[in-house]
Amino acid sequence: MTHETMTPSLKPAQSLEAGRPHELVLVMDFGSQTAQLIARRVREQNVYCQLVRHDLAIERIRQLNPKGIILSGGPASVYETGAPLPDPAIFELGVPILGICYGMQLACRALGSPVSPGQVREFGKTPCCLVTANPLFAGVPQEFTVWMSHGDQVQNLGDQFTALAATEDCPFAAVKHHTRPIYGLQFHPEVTHTEHGGKLLGSFVKTICGCRGDWSMSSFIERQVVDLRARVGTSRVICGLSGGVDSSVVAALLYRAIGSQLSCIFVDNGLLRSGEAEAVRTRFGDHFQVDLHVVDAREQFLRELADVADPQQKRKIIGRVFIDVFRKEAESIPDARFLAQGTLYPDVIESGADPDGPAATIKAHHNVGGLPAELGFELIEPLRDLFKDEVRALGLELGLPDAMIWRHPFPGPGLAVRCLGAICPARLETLRQADAIVIDELRKSGLYRKVQQAFAVLLPVQSVGVMGDFRTYDDTVAVRAVQTEDFMTADWYPIPYDVLQRISTRITNTVRGVNRVVYDISSKPPSTIEWE
Ligand code: XMP
Repeated sequence: MTHETMTPSLKPAQSLEAGRPHELVLVMDFGSQTAQLIARRVREQNVYCQLVRHDLAIERIRQLNPKGIILSGGPASVYETGAPLPDPAIFELGVPILGICYGMQLACRALGSPVSPGQVREFGKTPCCLVTANPLFAGVPQEFTVWMSHGDQVQNLGDQFTALAATEDCPFAAVKHHTRPIYGLQFHPEVTHTEHGGKLLGSFVKTICGCRGDWSMSSFIERQVVDLRARVGTSRVICGLSGGVDSSVVAALLYRAIGSQLSCIFVDNGLLRSGEAEAVRTRFGDHFQVDLHVVDAREQFLRELADVADPQQKRKIIGRVFIDVFRKEAESIPDARFLAQGTLYPDVIESGADPDGPAATIKAHHNVGGLPAELGFELIEPLRDLFKDEVRALGLELGLPDAMIWRHPFPGPGLAVRCLGAICPARLETLRQADAIVIDELRKSGLYRKVQQAFAVLLPVQSVGVMGDFRTYDDTVAVRAVQTEDFMTADWYPIPYDVLQRISTRITNTVRGVNRVVYDISSKPPSTIEWE
């Protein structure tokens, strides 16, 4: 492999400006469940948007120079003592403001319109009617359905605001200030149950804030290429590949930026699904010709896991061995200075890592497959501004195949937590074959993308069966398929009977040692997605 073949073709860097795009919309978070969703919806309009604390200092807001500000909803009441409030100077900035639900109430109250508990609380889908024409509602029909979720409401508009839309119980479902570019929506345009919600947010950021829409994954690549090259200089970057979407996209992006200065490490822990190691090798080793280090650590992992049945113990061992193996391989790569990781924007927000962002939210999360800070590298996190759907779009733009982009998430401890009880190579192979059949049948029936996670589980249960003239006493495989938004809650997915039948027949006919297939019809909570 020569350096010429490894260097990717790049557009000239001089014409590009490093850093973030110019157009920025801020979403101030007042504790809403849907604050991240607002930011995602704005980004769908090709406008860059950042989630910030509700009490961000006015000086900092001026410095960020947003083209618009959106005030999110929130669980508090604006008239309570201690209710979260923004710096009132935001209303004097002259920057367009859109208040949503609680955000509308606090904007109205700050400008003189009283808010109190409504006569009727509105929850769920509600018919809404436009009462005054306004560019905010361009392309929205006179009557449409909105998603409401409020007990409080603005009682009267005084002489400051005009009503733009109304529902039966809420005469001020949408409002506009007479003289300032300040708008309010009592309903939630960010949720899909609100008809034309995306269009409405689009009109706000484009028509009212005047954003052109300079946020796209191709412009992101251009900016990142410049940034990454400047940051890395002539050093070497190590990237741990897991086969998942995030690490694959990080590697493809870095490869585009620094080509032969990138080294990828892929650890084969013997707990992977069928074809996974090959897919990584083909894509990164053959196609991109990255300096790819595939470490065959199967024996070491399986040796350390022998006779371990406790799931948390399995996780601990896998985490420790992974760090050990990764560290050794990284040390063998000379001049490595940086370590690239696939941290995403929600991780940054939820961990409270952004000084402008909202406070950290405590979220139980699994920590296997992570690398400790003390490995001694400087961290590079090129996806830390992106939501998952943007990472997928970026991956496609970088030429990664659909199968990699849409791959269901796979836990760090891999098949170890789907092979219940103690693990051995034979049981893992049984599970691997059964799992491949589940995935193959879902793909063939067009269901793979309808569910967010699907897999087989090998149970530590033998039962009696009959095959030909023989009695068998063999293993049981469970099939799991779930639909979920955030993996914190999940619904079991009703795979059609004919697909289940094909899965069951293929498994019992072709996977040796399995004579029974069961279907998991439990949601989370009370179950979890994984069985261990
Ligand atoms: P549960 O089973 O808790 O899973 O409902 C929620 C999501 O987390 C994944 N998961 C893990 N991911 N290491 C990981 O990297 C782990 O130990 C782990 N355990 C569960 C699971 O696959 C699902 O997507």
